[in-house]
Amino acid sequence: MRIIAIANQKGGVGKTTTAVTLAHAFALGGYRTLLVDLDPQGNAATMLGMDVQPMLYNLLVLKHTPGQCIQPTGRPNLDILAGDKSTSEAKEAISGKFRRETILADRLRPVYNQYDYVFLDCAPSLDILNVNAMTAANSVIIPVSVEFMSLVGLRGYIDTLAEITQHEYQIHVSAVLPTFMENVTTEAKTTMSQLQEKFGNLLAQPIRRDQRLKEAPAEGKTIFEYDPRSRGALDYTALYKQLTGGTSYGAQSS
Ligand SMILES: Nc1ncnc2c1ncn2[C@@H]1O[C@H](COP(=O)(O)OP(=O)(O)O)[C@@H](O)[C@H]1O
Ligand SMILES: [Mg+2]
Repeated sequence: MRIIAIANQKGGVGKTTTAVTLAHAFALGGYRTLLVDLDPQGNAATMLGMDVQPMLYNLLVLKHTPGQCIQPTGRPNLDILAGDKSTSEAKEAISGKFRRETILADRLRPVYNQYDYVFLDCAPSLDILNVNAMTAANSVIIPVSVEFMSLVGLRGYIDTLAEITQHEYQIHVSAVLPTFMENVTTEAKTTMSQLQEKFGNLLAQPIRRDQRLKEAPAEGKTIFEYDPRSRGALDYTALYKQLTGGTSYGAQSS
């Protein structure tokens, strides 16, 4: 069983899109998959056309069992632990707790054997819930929007993730994922070559900017349901194949 956190301290870089889309790709591939929403915005459920629910709060604070909190999404192999604004209260509530940085992992452990993959959709911050995500996860994917400012603070953020986890936990950055890629702009090309220089083999093939990826959530559909032939569907399928060992990493420089 693998637990993959999707994280970046910046918002709007495609974290939730990546978490939801990858989770569905793995589910479609036959893997039993759980998507966990750690962002008080509750976007993960919304993107799947579901209601936001205080399930993370119920699990972490009210100590409901994982079985009471995890819901089917109506898609084969794909379950969700939804969140909503009460996730913020959960954050406050666990802040003072003993071994507060492993509460998520401790609470979810009983259901780990029911899943092949767990995806953690993180909020754009480095708060206690994201520390929990880092201690629970085996690996982290960092979506980075291909724009000039997006590299600012990125190295510091990755170093901080490493510090959080260096002693006790076994997390590693498994991919830096360029998102909102535009093949034609100079800005994108410059940023891609900087990413290539900084991250080398960790750099995954980019996810192109695709209006279809933006439209799909409004219909409560994943891109595979909304437009399986779109660029977004193709790019996320390629990422899925990379992660399952289908192809090796290495972004094209063009
Ligand atoms: N590759 C893409 N092309 C076009 N729009 C995208 C793409 N990825 C995400 N979006 C849209 O951009 C917005 C922010 O994406 P989201 O995944 O919510 O980012 P985050 O979770 O990092 O805040 C959403 O409206 C989403 O539909
Ligand atoms: Mg998000």
